[in-house]
Amino acid sequence: DDAGGPAVRRLAAWDAGRLSDLAADHGTPLYVTDLDRVHENCARLRAAFPDAEVRYAVKAHTGRAVLEAVRDAGLDAECAAAGEVRRALDAGFDGDRLHYTAVNPPARDLDAVVDWWADESDLTVTVGARDTLDRLAERGFDGRVCVRVNPGVGAGHHEKVRTGAAAKFGVPYDRAAAVVDDARDDFDVVGVHAHAGSGIHGEEDLAAHRELVARMGELAREVGDLEYVDVGGGFGVPYREGDPALDLDAVAEATREALGEVDARLAVEPGRYVVADAGVLLTEVNTVKPTPDTTVAGVDAGMTDLLRPAMYDAYHAIRDLDASPDRETGPVTVAGPICETSDMFCDGRELPIPDRGDLLAIGNAGAYGYEMASTYNSRPRPAEVSLAGEVLRERETLAGVTRLERGGDAE
Ligand code: LLP
Repeated sequence: DDAGGPAVRRLAAWDAGRLSDLAADHGTPLYVTDLDRVHENCARLRAAFPDAEVRYAVKAHTGRAVLEAVRDAGLDAECAAAGEVRRALDAGFDGDRLHYTAVNPPARDLDAVVDWWADESDLTVTVGARDTLDRLAERGFDGRVCVRVNPGVGAGHHEKVRTGAAAKFGVPYDRAAAVVDDARDDFDVVGVHAHAGSGIHGEEDLAAHRELVARMGELAREVGDLEYVDVGGGFGVPYREGDPALDLDAVAEATREALGEVDARLAVEPGRYVVADAGVLLTEVNTVKPTPDTTVAGVDAGMTDLLRPAMYDAYHAIRDLDASPDRETGPVTVAGPICETSDMFCDGRELPIPDRGDLLAIGNAGAYGYEMASTYNSRPRPAEVSLAGEVLRERETLAGVTRLERGGDAE
């Protein structure tokens, strides 16, 4: 039965009994991560890009268990900050599999990363400005560098995640060859890099992706002598009912074709694709309130736990794990406990009308879920367990939230 499409099918595939047991054991809100699924997603990527370097964009989910699964599956790690580099090192990624993408890097981050490079790891630093090259040289770094280019073309599921055309990221395309040339005086320039944006899905995004790849191929032929051309991540997954699954093989083929002949390996760096559908967020209904237009289902998870709907109007499929198929349906608004109007997971969506105490599963919560959690409203962050029942992150406590304040535990 294909009703609802891949996003709904994927959410329906989670074992309701198992999820209910985990919620009973660990409380809600609770992130549940299926590490086997992480493995499968990595395998799918490796199969679609057999002779490319596949780098996991760690920012999508930095948990140790996920990083270890990705490492075991043979992917590299792409890190956006010193903290992510540290986590990847701790999870056992060797230096030649570690890429630090430095965007306006704070001095503290550069200091730390250069120290780790000198002491323990021959990692690569991807730079998006000449200033970053200077600041690396000042710190004695003369290692592997990749030049990030602003390809002038962006794509993605929302304005806020279309990276490629934003001036913030990368050296302007027409200055890229000159920067590569200069960098070669002081560093080992191993690659060029660009990233279009996040959530590439559909013809328009794919056309932008191909355009970016073609430009990068051209640049690579112009500068020559590179190990790789990194064309970024952003591969989308289905979120909405009716969204088709991304045809990864077709994307891979289009990527190769657009790149053309280059004497360097292709590299890609997906985050979302690896973890999105490997995670759900479980939340309990505590309030059911009929209103003229919609039934408001008040739940114990909020935008502090999963920010994407509030920040990007992101759509996440929702399944009532306690509703039998004959449950009456109607417009339902699933809303959290935060004092913000945007603290809603859906508004007037046709769903089974929940009962108080029902457990809801919010799908595709594995990518940019826990990672973007905050403690707004003094809410401790949720716990995360593996589907097998291992606690991956303890539930935060109020003492943990206030620890660093005057009068807190750390004082
Ligand atoms: N490479 C670079 C340089 C990136 O900036 C990103 C994402 C990726 C790779 C991985 O993109 P992915 O394959 O995960 O789409 N918080 C937003 C997404 C922000 C992505 C930022 N950069 C969201 O929840 O949709």
